[in-house]
Amino acid sequence: MQITTERKPLEQVEADALIVPVFEGAGETRFGAGDLWEAGEIAGKPLEFTLLHHAPGSAAKRILLVGAGKAEKFDAAEMRKLAGAAVRYLKPKGIKRIAIALSGSYAGADFASAAVEGAILGDYEPDRYKTGDDKHSLEAVAIVGAEGAAVERGRILAEAQNLTRAMANEPANLLTPLKMAEEARKMAAAFHLECEVLEREQMEKLGMGALLGVAQGSAEPPALIVIRYKPANAGSTDHLGLVGKGVTFDTGGISIKPSEGMEKMKYDMSGGAAMIGAMQAIAQLKPALTVTAFIPCVENMCGSRAQRPGDIVTAMSGKTIEVLNTDAEGRLILADALAYARQQGCTHLVDAATLTGAVVVALAHIHVGVFANNDALQERVLKASKAEGERMWPMPMDDDYKEYLKSAFADLGNIGGRWGGAITAAIFLKEFAEGTPWVHLDIAGTAWLDDAKPYLAKGPAGVPVRTMVRLAMDW
Ligand code: BES
Ligand code: MN
Ligand code: ZN
Repeated sequence: MQITTERKPLEQVEADALIVPVFEGAGETRFGAGDLWEAGEIAGKPLEFTLLHHAPGSAAKRILLVGAGKAEKFDAAEMRKLAGAAVRYLKPKGIKRIAIALSGSYAGADFASAAVEGAILGDYEPDRYKTGDDKHSLEAVAIVGAEGAAVERGRILAEAQNLTRAMANEPANLLTPLKMAEEARKMAAAFHLECEVLEREQMEKLGMGALLGVAQGSAEPPALIVIRYKPANAGSTDHLGLVGKGVTFDTGGISIKPSEGMEKMKYDMSGGAAMIGAMQAIAQLKPALTVTAFIPCVENMCGSRAQRPGDIVTAMSGKTIEVLNTDAEGRLILADALAYARQQGCTHLVDAATLTGAVVVALAHIHVGVFANNDALQERVLKASKAEGERMWPMPMDDDYKEYLKSAFADLGNIGGRWGGAITAAIFLKEFAEGTPWVHLDIAGTAWLDDAKPYLAKGPAGVPVRTMVRLAMDW
C-alpha cells in the first residue's frame, strides 16, 4: 500500500474517497452537508457514516463524513479507530484510493501517525488461505495536512503489527517452531538485524531443562530465536530484553485441553510474534537503546515422549520444578528464556505471553494484565501503553502468593491452584527474573479478537507491538 502526505486544501484533494471527521455540535456545513446537519441526519456521533457522491466543490469522487464524537474526547486512539472503521466501511465498495483529512487542532504528529495506523490495521484481513476473488484491499492512503515523518512512523508501526497478526494467525501445521525461526530470520535479514537460533543441542548444553521438558512431547524440534538490535549511538548502558512466548500449538500436553475451542491455541505464540513485530519496527525507528528479543518456540504436544504430571525438571537457573500440570507450559519455557536473557546481559526485561485463562476471568478481553518486580519499569510500560491505546492494568505481586507454588518434592510447582491463576503464573516467572527489573504482560485475553471490531478484523490483534516500540523509543 502506498502511503503519502498531501498539502492541498481539502477541496482540491483527489481520491476515490476523502474521509472527513465530523465532531458533535460542530454544525457541519462543508461539502453541502448543512441540510443533513439541520435535518439531524448528521450529528457527529462516534462512527456515524455519511457517504456523499460528487459533493459540491470537492475534487474527490466521494466524501465520507465520519462522526468523531465530542472534540474534547478525541485523542490519537479515537483517530486510529475512526480511520480503521472508515477503511472497513469503504473497502467492500471496491474503493482503492483514499485520503484522510486531519482535523483542525487534531493535526499533530500523534494524530497523523494514528490515522495511518488505523488505515493499515483496518485494511488487514486474515484471508491468506481464502482462494476466492472477493478480497478487497486499499492501494493508496494520503494523509492531508500531515508531516512526512509522522506518516512514516505510522506506516512502520502498523506494518509491524500486521506482521505479528499474520504470524499469530498461521495454523500450527504451517507455522512450526522451526518455521517461526525461519520467518524471524527473514525479517531480521530484511531489516539488518542480527538473528541467531538456538537448537536443541545448545539448549541441552545450557541446561534449559524446563524448555526441553515441554518440547519433548512433539516431533517438531524446539527453537530459541534471538534477534539483536544495536544502536549506532547508545544513550545509556541499559539493555532491554523482549521475551515472547512462542508455543506454536498448545494441546495442553498429557494434561490435555478440552477439544472445544482448541483450534484457537494456534495463537499461543502471539507474545513471540509481537516481539518479532516490535523488532521490525525498532530496526527502522532506531531508538538509542540496545534491544534484544528472545523467543522460545515449542509445540506442546502429548506424544509418547511427552513429559508427565509429576516429572521434575531442572531449569537453566538451577531451580527444580515439579510439573504438576503439563498445560502450564508457557511459564516453563519462559523460565529458561528469562534466565538466558539475563545471562546475555539484559538489564531490563519485558515478556509478553498468552499465559493464563485466569487473566481473561480477571480482565476480560479489555486489558492486558501487567505484573512486575519493579515499579519504575512498570510505570514506563503503562505510560507507553496509554500513549498507544493498548489498554493494560497492573496486578498485585505480594510475596504471599508464593505460598501457592509450593511443591513437596521440588523447589517450585508449576501451578498455583484454583485462585488467582494469572498472579501465581506471574509469581512463578518472577523466580526466574531474579533481581533484574522485569515486567510480565499476560495477553491471553487481548491477543485475539473473537469478534470483529468496526476498525479491526476478527482474529489476531497484534498486541502489544506498539507499546513495546514506544517503550524502546521513549527510554
Ligand atoms: N495458553 C494457555 C493459556 C490460555 C488458556 C489462553 C485459555 C487462552 C485460553 C496456557 O498455556 C494454559 O494452558 N494455561 C493454563 C494454566 C493452568 C493449567 C494452571 C490455564 O490457564 O488454564
Ligand atoms: Mn497450556
Ligand atoms: Zn499455552
